[in-house]
Amino acid sequence: MAYELIEVRTEAGKVGIVTLNRPKQLNALNNQLMDELGAALKSFDADPAIGCMIITGSEKAFAAGADIGAMASWSFKDVYKDDYITRNWETIRGIRKPVIAAVSGFALGGGCELTMMCDFIIAADNAKFGQPEIKLGIIPGAGGTQRLPRAIGKAKAMDMALTGRMMDAAEAERSGLVSRVVPLDKLMDEALAAALVICEFSQIAVMAAKESVNRAFETGLSDGVMFERRMFHALFATADQKEGMDAFVNKRKAQFRNE
Ligand code: CAA
Repeated sequence: MAYELIEVRTEAGKVGIVTLNRPKQLNALNNQLMDELGAALKSFDADPAIGCMIITGSEKAFAAGADIGAMASWSFKDVYKDDYITRNWETIRGIRKPVIAAVSGFALGGGCELTMMCDFIIAADNAKFGQPEIKLGIIPGAGGTQRLPRAIGKAKAMDMALTGRMMDAAEAERSGLVSRVVPLDKLMDEALAAALVICEFSQIAVMAAKESVNRAFETGLSDGVMFERRMFHALFATADQKEGMDAFVNKRKAQFRNE
């Protein structure tokens, strides 16, 4: 597929990188961009050589939200029956390998929601997160009211959803929305280093870890712990478990074969 609104590349043959690329609109997310993003992520997910993905934007904007110009004239039928806005937004949930959001500048509305659909967020020190939909007479529509309270708790999530204020990178890290904050010029180095660390591990164990952590947001504790236990048990059927433990015991570096 030829991409117009994203750029796609790989690093070290192992990390798939998608750069959102509508700079004049601050990477506002329209259907074409979301379709391209979904296709690129699915293609990386299906590629056995790829162990991790990164989504990033520009220095000024990761993404300033759904495209307001496109949405302005949409009707209920357009958004509900024809699924104009949420089509492909949940694609990222179905991606089984890790996806890191490397965020600089604005991550607002659907942009903030997109970062929260990723597995973790590394932010540049100029990053700003927000759910300003209330200012447009709507509410977040891509999971913001659900994922934000799970990430930062009710008080701050309500504050952001009801006032539409932005949170800077330092507050986002304090609140648990982002995992690391780094200087802007180190953002991609940091994200890539994290991705390469992940790529060194067994893809099977990495996918199982991602699935288990995500299960924590869908179940109660007992069911979640039981799910984790079964995944843990299952990993003893892999060659990578034998390799990882043998390497530790014999003081050598493990060579995982994803088997
Ligand atoms: N959609 C479409 N275009 C957008 C946009 C958006 N979400 N955000 C910015 N742009 C465009 C602007 O219209 C402007 O275009 P022109 O140069 O043609 O006028 C260009 O990007 C640059 O923007 P500004 O001149 O406004 O730049 P700024 O630095 O002064 O302000 C900003 C930056 C604070 C991010 C401001 O642009 C802004 O508030 N944007 C809207 C943010 C927003 O409300 N996002 C939520 C959208 S709704 C949503 O996402 C729904 C959902 O949950 C799925």
